[in-house]
Amino acid sequence: MALGKATAVGCANIAFIKYWGRRDNSLRLPLNSSISMNLDRATTITTVAFDAALKADQVIIEGADRADQATRRVSEHLDRVRALGRIDARARAMSRNSFPTGAGIASSASGFAALTVAACAAAGLEMDERALTILARQGSGSACRSIPSGFVEWHTADTSEGSYAEQIAPPDHWDLCDLIAVVQTEHKKVGSSKGHELVGPSPFASARLAEAERALPLVREAIRNRDFGTLGEETEQEAIRMHCVAMTSRPSLLYWSPETVRIMHTVRGWREAGLPVCFTIDAGANVHVLCQEQDAALLDARLRDLPGVLDVIANRPGPGTYLTDAHLF
Ligand code: DP6
Repeated sequence: MALGKATAVGCANIAFIKYWGRRDNSLRLPLNSSISMNLDRATTITTVAFDAALKADQVIIEGADRADQATRRVSEHLDRVRALGRIDARARAMSRNSFPTGAGIASSASGFAALTVAACAAAGLEMDERALTILARQGSGSACRSIPSGFVEWHTADTSEGSYAEQIAPPDHWDLCDLIAVVQTEHKKVGSSKGHELVGPSPFASARLAEAERALPLVREAIRNRDFGTLGEETEQEAIRMHCVAMTSRPSLLYWSPETVRIMHTVRGWREAGLPVCFTIDAGANVHVLCQEQDAALLDARLRDLPGVLDVIANRPGPGTYLTDAHLF
């Protein structure tokens, strides 16, 4: 069979109900279901070409030919695609992010979503959206939520087939904005992949799980009803719960910097003064400030004025992962 070349673009996503901890580490089955929004300004473009002449996979991320942990994870994911397509050929995979390298924005969701869609197309595999989410999930859990467009829920399950992601609402359903206040650009010491494995010893892990399950339908309905009050309240609480678990893991993970905490206080001050705004924080120090389009320009300007804010990346609800002809090689 002649193997092709394919290129895909995937968005990062921000979770309102977080994925934090797994019931199965090798299959990446999460402890709880999660809900997120795709971010249109934080994308990864990836080209994959299988080539029988290659002796090993060649992985080029942001122009660097790397032989490290990230490359191994990409190769393992290509193995999953090779197994599905019954092919032996090694591949060349090249990817580039739309956001500045090392901006402290998670690239594993956009990266593994784009890799999954590009590699499957290059291998000639015909897969529906659900199957693509199941495959992407095994590369990076949060990547499965970047396959469908807009607002997405990822279901927890005891089986691989049961743990897929699906759309709750399309991107144009709600003009929600995620203003990412970038306060830290270096790589965090303990990334989320490892963080998931440290959840067990936290005395708050089971309480957070129960609360995430309680909040899940509220967040789903808040999205459907464009109810910012409920979305903001539940999203902020969930972020704090996730970080309580991270802080009480062993070893303890403290992702917040002094700037993070200052922005949390500032956002609450703005809300008390009447602005519909809230925050959420992933496994890093940067703060995702959520608001609606009518307040986005004002909040963007106010965030840029805060001490310690290096950049603000303004995101609207993004598309699902899609194929393009704009190959990188
Ligand atoms: C804090 O998807 O990066 O962003 O499955 O090991 O690749 P792996 O983990 P990853 O974890 C994301 C954690 C989070 C919360 C979330 O996006 O739900």
